[in-house]
Amino acid sequence: MNAVNHLFQDEDVAIEENLIRVSSNSAFTNQEQTNQVFSEKWGEVNKEEEDVEKMIDMQLKWYLKLYGFSSNDDLAAFLCRQNVILDAGCGLGYKAAWFATLAPDSTVIGMDFSEAAILAANRYKHIKNLFFVRGDIANTPLKKGSIGYVSCDQVIHHTEKPAETFKHLASLLAPGGELACYVYAKKALPRELVDDYFREYSKKLTHQQLWELSEQLTELGKNLTKLKASFHCPDIPALGIKGGEYDVQRFLYWNFLKCFWREDSSDKLSVATNFDWYAPSNAARYSLEEFNQWGIDNKLEKVFSHSEEACHTGRFKKK
Ligand SMILES: C[S@@+](CC[C@H](N)C(=O)[O-])C[C@H]1O[C@@H](n2cnc3c(N)ncnc32)[C@H](O)[C@@H]1O
Repeated sequence: MNAVNHLFQDEDVAIEENLIRVSSNSAFTNQEQTNQVFSEKWGEVNKEEEDVEKMIDMQLKWYLKLYGFSSNDDLAAFLCRQNVILDAGCGLGYKAAWFATLAPDSTVIGMDFSEAAILAANRYKHIKNLFFVRGDIANTPLKKGSIGYVSCDQVIHHTEKPAETFKHLASLLAPGGELACYVYAKKALPRELVDDYFREYSKKLTHQQLWELSEQLTELGKNLTKLKASFHCPDIPALGIKGGEYDVQRFLYWNFLKCFWREDSSDKLSVATNFDWYAPSNAARYSLEEFNQWGIDNKLEKVFSHSEEACHTGRFKKK
């Protein structure tokens, strides 16, 4: 028997090496479109190994900060206490691979609804305690109460009904288990309005047009950053704009339009980040109160909380 069969409700799951196949279609048009654009995004990013390495380096450091781990060793000590770990919405699978390497005696499952799950399974065949599933994290075939740590990083807002997804993931936790979760934060009013409008509009665009749009936004972000100009903005509470000293690009970015560009990233990764923002139909944003309510509704204790302009994150523990 394979090391993971017993974790599934139907122990007769089809496993090909490290890839477990369940249903890979959604009944919801927006989720299906979201899956397609993420298949497209990860397919592109996966082509450039140098970009993947840059992304991994940046993302792993950020992960420690987002979830309150002081170092790799601190995370490793925590993970080694978990028998089973789920990376819910694993993308290319590099965080699942990181967990599996830090906790070699634990079983790690990475799950994604897009073709990224297959790319991840190919990428990390050599890690023996790591498995991937292509399927919906809102309705997994995993047994309830079977998982010590569920990490749902930068994903839940892309699912069809995020609060329901949170409930489902919470139901998978074993007693004492933790769910680490990230949601997009609500931003200033002009940015929220543009985002909502643009995301509707972008449904009419082809993937090619979405990439072109993302390239244009990246060039805008780059040119604005290169101005190296800053100014003072007053508090404008009616628009949700916080006063203070701003770099011009950051001011536009947080308050009006996502035009991502980072010097320490490659242009291609910046384009992929902009694509990732306007292309998926599902991309909900939340206030901290709304996010905390999920924990309360599911009788989970929030044992770590962090907020920054982009997001709210937390670790929620099952008593
Ligand atoms: C921004 S990416 C984050 C990926 C990864 N967690 C990371 O940090 O690199 C969001 C991922 O969520 C996945 N996703 C969206 N909805 C999903 C769902 N209902 N079930 C499983 N995965 C989903 C997408 O396919 C995509 O790979």
